[in-house]
Amino acid sequence: MENSIKICMGSSCYSRGNQENLEHIERYLSERQIDCSVDLRGSRCEGLCSEGPIVEINGQIHGGVNADTIEQLLDQQLILQ
Ligand code: FES
Repeated sequence: MENSIKICMGSSCYSRGNQENLEHIERYLSERQIDCSVDLRGSRCEGLCSEGPIVEINGQIHGGVNADTIEQLLDQQLILQ
């Protein structure tokens, strides 16, 4: 199964941390050389700004994602063979 990550690039999430979170995700994927097998894309505002920054991993929405929690989330949520 291919993993998918959708990161909210709406202005609220972006300015509250997803700009930084995106860099962390890209580094995480490239360090593990899995950037080709993970579908990473940005989304528009998901209508959940008050819970942001929003990152969706394999269909599960996570709120309040920050630099301290993003790596652990990826460890837990990505399915790697
Ligand atoms: S900007 Fe991300 S939910 Fe609104």
